[in-house]
Amino acid sequence: MLFVIAFTIICLYFIYDYVCFVKKYPPGPFPFPVVGNCLSLDPEAPHESIAAFGRKYGPIFTVWLPKPHIVISDYELMKQALVKDGDNFAGRFRGNVFSLFANGNHGISLADGAIWKEQRKFAMHTLKSFGMGRNVIEAKIHVSINKLIEWIDDDLSKSTEKVLTTDLSWSLQQAVGNVINSVVIGYHFEKDDPRFFRLKTILEEFFDTVRRPGLIMLENGHFWLRHIPFTGRMGLDSLMVKVKRVQDFMKGEIEAHQKDFDENEEPTDFIAAYMMEMARRRKTGEDMSYFSDWQMQCTLLDIWGAGMLPTVTMMRWALLFMLHYPDVQERVQYELDTIVGKDRQVEMADKPFLPYTTATVTEIQRFANIIPINQPRKVFEDTVINGYRIPGNTPVLAQIHTVLQDPKLFPQPERFNPDRFLDETKQKFINNEAVIPYGIGKRMCLGESLARTEIFLFFAALLQRFSFAAPKGQPISLQKPKFGINLMPENYEVEIRSR
Ligand code: HEM
Repeated sequence: MLFVIAFTIICLYFIYDYVCFVKKYPPGPFPFPVVGNCLSLDPEAPHESIAAFGRKYGPIFTVWLPKPHIVISDYELMKQALVKDGDNFAGRFRGNVFSLFANGNHGISLADGAIWKEQRKFAMHTLKSFGMGRNVIEAKIHVSINKLIEWIDDDLSKSTEKVLTTDLSWSLQQAVGNVINSVVIGYHFEKDDPRFFRLKTILEEFFDTVRRPGLIMLENGHFWLRHIPFTGRMGLDSLMVKVKRVQDFMKGEIEAHQKDFDENEEPTDFIAAYMMEMARRRKTGEDMSYFSDWQMQCTLLDIWGAGMLPTVTMMRWALLFMLHYPDVQERVQYELDTIVGKDRQVEMADKPFLPYTTATVTEIQRFANIIPINQPRKVFEDTVINGYRIPGNTPVLAQIHTVLQDPKLFPQPERFNPDRFLDETKQKFINNEAVIPYGIGKRMCLGESLARTEIFLFFAALLQRFSFAAPKGQPISLQKPKFGINLMPENYEVEIRSR
């Protein structure tokens, strides 16, 4: 009897202690011990489950994954936290998974503190020196665009009906990816380049593994699960095999550069620029600070991966939307024909005179809404937002996804409607600062200006030269994008005609 009473008291104490612990955080769905709210998330679309929690619990709530994550889903509160209290919200929560990727605090996107500040500053400076934000990068982008147009023209010329039916995904991947490839690694993949096919396989395998993150999410909070044979093998171990392959690709590129690196030559790509910085520090005796071979690999991988995947994904959506909304495609083409014509390339300097094209590209980036769950930030110190106390070191998810479909900011957000960014005369582009696909605050996307330039130029060039239509009888679905680091459309075929 005494034992039963003692056991009950101990249980009640643990329950009380657990409830008090949960109550320390803003409200949200009640978390179960060990799994938190992981089992309440739709495995195919966890971001939709998080959005549904937001509708129930308000603009700030806690979701346990299985560690408590504070979700901010309102734009004004996001600005208050990430911009006004920028330094405090500039941390990066790595958890067990991301710590494993970079072997601790390394790289840019997974780093924080002094190492992040230094490496981000160096990366920004180097990308600018290669032309990011200037005309130089535009010329590099045009090289990739011209290659893609050449490939399509080449295939079209083989078709007797003057129509090409194809899945453009991987040509886009190659052409758009070639921009960041040339900046970081220094070369373009040619059409049938075997190196590209090797990379394609590696990337496909990696995407497939992150598509169903349930087990990996659990291991992120409970590392011991990795040491249980079944959960370990199916979860983190399997992911790390794919991560290692991507890392080995970058390591191979670095080693190839090391063979013919000459510190007296002006660097022409990011790898050479990084090596040059290390050589300079060694030569002058300046402190190496956080510059090291491993840091170089992590930083390069961050810029190359973050620079390639979302931009390509955005272009895949852009073309799919044009199949779905042929009237928009025709209006963009009419504007391009009238303002630029067909005899020269569209340039960034044309943008102010292309309000409908600019509005369409903006709506593509809002509507595609490709980042389902933001990479978690971390608040460094105890903080209060909207009356809720957030303990220091807590992960924070600033959900861009919810902002981009907030009906208060974008009436009828479920409609693809470029006109929402035009004035009443339809002649002037009106920006809406809440279109934040690149995030806000100190850690916002480092490649925003490059990505915006790429998307505008690729989109305009493709529509200037070709018309895109859905093959007859093939339904085009905009529903159920494939979950992953980015939301991807299902593969689709497209009919291409020269204009
Ligand atoms: C459509 C294209 C792109 C989208 C939608 C996008 C979006 C984002 C977002 C949402 C973040 C996270 C911001 C945060 O933590 O709050 C981010 C970070 C980052 N992006 Fe991009 N990005 C794109 C293209 C690029 C390109 C072209 C590059 C490379 C030149 C790049 C490099 C990075 C890096 C290095 C970070 C980490 C920044 C940090 O943690 O300090 N991204 N991006």
